[in-house]
Amino acid sequence: MYLYFTLYKEERKLDSQYRVHLIGRLYDVFQPLALHLDLEGRVGRVIRQGYIGRNTFDKAFVSNTYRSTAGSFTLLGVSGMGKTTAIKRILNMYPQVIVHSKYKNKEFSRYQVVFLRIECSYDGSVKGLCLSFFNKVDEVLGTDYYSRFGNGRLSVDNMLVAMSNIAKNISLGILVIDEIQNLSKSKSGGAERMLNFFVTLVNTIGLPVLLIGTPEAMGVLQGKFRQARRGSGQGDMIFERLNYDMNFKLFLNAIWGYQWTRRPIVLTEELKDVFYDQSQGIIDIIVKLYALTQTKAILGGKETITPDLVRQVADENLRLVKPMLDALRTGNILEMIKYPDVYTGNINLNHESPSFQRHTNTTVIKKTNSTSGNKGVSRSKVRITAPTMDDDIRIIIKNRLRDDKTAYEILKDRGLIKGCEGL
Ligand SMILES: Nc1ncnc2c1ncn2[C@@H]1O[C@H](COP(=O)(O)OP(=O)(O)O)[C@@H](O)[C@H]1O
Ligand SMILES: [Mg+2]
Repeated sequence: MYLYFTLYKEERKLDSQYRVHLIGRLYDVFQPLALHLDLEGRVGRVIRQGYIGRNTFDKAFVSNTYRSTAGSFTLLGVSGMGKTTAIKRILNMYPQVIVHSKYKNKEFSRYQVVFLRIECSYDGSVKGLCLSFFNKVDEVLGTDYYSRFGNGRLSVDNMLVAMSNIAKNISLGILVIDEIQNLSKSKSGGAERMLNFFVTLVNTIGLPVLLIGTPEAMGVLQGKFRQARRGSGQGDMIFERLNYDMNFKLFLNAIWGYQWTRRPIVLTEELKDVFYDQSQGIIDIIVKLYALTQTKAILGGKETITPDLVRQVADENLRLVKPMLDALRTGNILEMIKYPDVYTGNINLNHESPSFQRHTNTTVIKKTNSTSGNKGVSRSKVRITAPTMDDDIRIIIKNRLRDDKTAYEILKDRGLIKGCEGL
């Protein structure tokens, strides 16, 4: 899954104008981390499991009475954490098209498409999704579905039927839909219609579906869709920004060898601290900061990376994301929720907890769709996750309630409630 390349010492001797171009190669590197291995495993299982029910030699499949064995799952994560890059790397481990001509010495002609990755259209429309599906199939198989079904003569409902038929005919292994948060921009009812369609693909056609998006997609994924696919999938995954731990260090170490400055330096603890502080563990920002620092070091004539230079580059170039990074740095939830594409505190998809998941100790507000209202009116429900910090007043009260004291007295004893005597 990894993607490294060799940096030859001679490259560092080149003129600065050439070296600044070479820095662009950094964006090609792919360093697998624990979360990528987990994702790879799930994708592999979902693809293989999905094919069990769709055996083209099976009578049930031919007569359309087969039982779906497909699962679906959702990958949500902070913007810039490499969801798109990771899924592309993982899917590329499979052949995209397999041309069958014989099976066990019998004539057998079929095009099998193992995966398709499409993006949810920017306005979250169902039509846009169908069109990109036709386009993608045409791209890999050389067919003309786009001009046949996407020319405006068909209604959206008919396009959806065409899409599910095509998916069945090409024995599609998995349909990956990226940027699913765009659904929240769709016209009223559009998101629900699309999600219902995904459920049909999984449950009726037997096609595994993987939805990928930022935490903004939470709003549309809860409720009905969650009910429908419960128990069918591989659990849901969350790509959180990296903690300052082994994974972060592994990542930084992996890209550290790629220095085109004349005087490359070893990775010190101080540099690790600075990089973490300035990027807050968001992979995209780590890579950009590293590349920009090198560019500045080369063009400015310093020819080496220093902690101060990293800070300076971050100040100059990351101005747009600075308020967001500041919010993450201070851990101020009120500030963080202003950035729905990075704030993951409100994600609750009933997922299997992967080991790298960060647990929050905060009270999260979870929106649930009311089942009684016929217009999908939503109400808010407060869910309290178990706090563990010693100085959390909920813990303090819980531990001492046995002493026959009221919460007020307990907090007062601890000096957390002050009277006005001293004023
Ligand atoms: N595992 C990785 N190794 C190296 N670079 C990565 C990795 N993951 C992400 N990146 C970098 O982060 C950038 C943003 O990744 P992207 O997949 O677009 O994020 P997302 O889809 O989560 O918003 C990529 O261009 C790539 O340079
Ligand atoms: Mg992406």
